[in-house]
Amino acid sequence: MSLTITSGLSGTQAETWSNLHNAINAHDLPGCFPSTPEMVARFERYPWPARSSEFYIGWLAGEPVAIMELSLPMRDNLKNMSIDLKVHPSHRRGGIGRKFYDLAVERAKANDRTKLQTHTGFELPGLDLPVPAGPPFVQGLGFESANLTEVMRRFDLSTADEAALDDLLAKAVQASDGYRVLTWADETPAELVEDVAYLDGRLMTDAPMGDLDFEPAMVDADRIREADQVNKDRGRRLCHAGAVHTETGKLVAWTTISHDPEVDWHAWQQITIVDPEHRGHRLGALVKVENLRYFRQAEPGVKIIDTFNAATNNYMISINEDMGFRVKCAFANWQRDI
Ligand SMILES: CC(C)(COP(=O)(O)OP(=O)(O)OC[C@H]1O[C@@H](n2cnc3c(N)ncnc32)[C@H](O)[C@@H]1OP(=O)(O)O)[C@@H](O)C(=O)NCCC(=O)NCCS
Repeated sequence: MSLTITSGLSGTQAETWSNLHNAINAHDLPGCFPSTPEMVARFERYPWPARSSEFYIGWLAGEPVAIMELSLPMRDNLKNMSIDLKVHPSHRRGGIGRKFYDLAVERAKANDRTKLQTHTGFELPGLDLPVPAGPPFVQGLGFESANLTEVMRRFDLSTADEAALDDLLAKAVQASDGYRVLTWADETPAELVEDVAYLDGRLMTDAPMGDLDFEPAMVDADRIREADQVNKDRGRRLCHAGAVHTETGKLVAWTTISHDPEVDWHAWQQITIVDPEHRGHRLGALVKVENLRYFRQAEPGVKIIDTFNAATNNYMISINEDMGFRVKCAFANWQRDI
């Protein structure tokens, strides 16, 4: 039977994509990365700033069996392209993955990209998940490890230890004399946008990146405003908290929790960054716990918050564990030149 590959998410393809994505994850990573057709349609309709994405669906005799997203940075990292490929478990080991990879290489060449990057599942002891097929697949294609394992932790808010959170916050408040916390929803206030751009631009260089070949992103106020607009267009609701250094009036720490009401029970704990000059005052814990409080008031229906950290990011992991996040699954990063 021959494989047909279609591109784009127009018409009913967003629904096909979302259903297949959910079915594959129900096997590989149960309960993770929920999507809906509308969410997926908005990925294509409202692309992320400075990024171009291509979506492909693989079909066997009219049945959807595989999905692939290719993501191309458009303002920096112009030699890179990332691949996210998933084949339905009942159609694996039949050469579909390899055919999609050939298409990815073709698209990379057409876009003058020479560095392919991808991620796969990573086996962690104690997790009741199937052995990931991704590592042997990508190694067979010539990818090398980027020595960057990322671990997803989940906070089930029904198990939140309120006393532990209060204690964490009290200790952070005590250690952060000279700073004040502020919170805001959705769009970045004009008076903070330059500071947010500076902090956002540091993220890729400050967070552990292993050997992943990635230039620091060029982030300015316009790019922050563009990202705010995309989040708004996609219908996402964001809660932010920051710490301002009272003496200089600068925003020196920032964190965000984002929620897509399409999946009413779920949210992502995203960015957390503290300016290196202001570390050592528990500002990370301060903004995270304050933001969690703010978020729970704003979105009382959300039950689960997921977050990613590099496995070596001990400081951030310890804050997350103290808050109540627990390991759910892990990913390995890979890259190869073509
Ligand atoms: C990884 C994945 C895409 C492979 O898809 P697939 O259609 O089964 O891949 P192919 O049939 O083209 O396999 C090509 C080769 O990869 C290797 N391979 C694939 N799965 C493997 C496994 N479970 N164990 C060992 N080797 C494997 C084999 O060498 C295979 O060739 P062979 O079957 O002739 O021995 C699929 O298992 C999947 O969707 N996994 C979850 C998502 C993921 O990890 N994606 C990876 C990169 S983005």
